[in-house]
Amino acid sequence: MPPVAASDAPDMDAVMAHRIAEAADLVTVALDELLPRADGPEARLTEAMRYAVLGPGKRLRPYFALETARLFDADERSVLRAACALECIHSYSIIHDDLPAMDDDDLRRGRPTVHKQYDEGTAVLAGDALQTAAFEIMSHPDTHDDPEIRCELISRMAMASGARGLAGGQMIDMIGERADLGQVARMQRMKTGALIVFAIEIPVIIARVNDAARHALHGFAMDFGLAYQIIDDLIDAEGRIDDAGKAVGKDAARGKANFVTLLGVGAARERVELLAAQCRAHLDIFGREASYLRASVDFVLDRRA
Ligand code: IPE
Ligand code: IPE
Ligand code: MG
Ligand code: MG
Ligand code: MG
Repeated sequence: MPPVAASDAPDMDAVMAHRIAEAADLVTVALDELLPRADGPEARLTEAMRYAVLGPGKRLRPYFALETARLFDADERSVLRAACALECIHSYSIIHDDLPAMDDDDLRRGRPTVHKQYDEGTAVLAGDALQTAAFEIMSHPDTHDDPEIRCELISRMAMASGARGLAGGQMIDMIGERADLGQVARMQRMKTGALIVFAIEIPVIIARVNDAARHALHGFAMDFGLAYQIIDDLIDAEGRIDDAGKAVGKDAARGKANFVTLLGVGAARERVELLAAQCRAHLDIFGREASYLRASVDFVLDRRA
């Protein structure tokens, strides 16, 4: 599809829904191939991994990787494999996030969480094995024929997932009940923002994008990642379980510090609007080429699930 200005298309929401669904289908088909079932007693583990990954996730991180790739004509096959690796990391993170030792949730994407459908030990192992599957996929020559590019992807994925990214942010979330706004912003950028930043970095690395574009997209992803988690926290505060597909009202009950529990719903929503405006401004240097990326900001942040 050629780029359009959001104002040229009266039904931009339908266009965006279609584009995101198309990307999600591509990713689900690819993940189905990349995560085969095993024979023998370990089949329980591969079933649990597939149950988690192939379930009805929104696939927004892969969508952002694929949409950004179109700005630079980055090779779609490479970006898709790398985005599948990222989705495995995301999937592992939510399996572990739902465990009784962490958020203790029974419902995810409208279905029982992995430890409810299987058992806690299987859920721990499914998360572990999805994390290593991500590195296996990323390091395979099919992801990119240049080992230097593969190495950079692996290194950035490791940093985004580890103690300075997702895992570190999850640690702060667990102990940060008395955190102030600055600490909460840092925690959100680590636990959720880091993987979203990495999603955008995938095509940037693969297409060897210039520094100006790199910086603009980094700013976009940083602001979008924070806004995405604030929306998740708003859904927890005022959403419906049937829309969200997961329990709601638990952050306040657990004493979790986030933008909504610290500032209230209205001020948190204002923050999201400010961040969304910043996201759009970061894309200015790309002009109309970034129309879909620009339109995806409001579309995605308008979510109820
Ligand atoms: C859930 O992420 C956890 C957060 C980091 C907010 P998503 O809302 O993107 O989850 P799925 O993959 O679509 O279920
Ligand atoms: C994000 O936070 C979790 C991860 C980064 C894995 P939440 O704990 O709020 O996510 P949900 O609400 O369970 O999806
Ligand atoms: Mg959590
Ligand atoms: Mg949770
Ligand atoms: Mg939440």
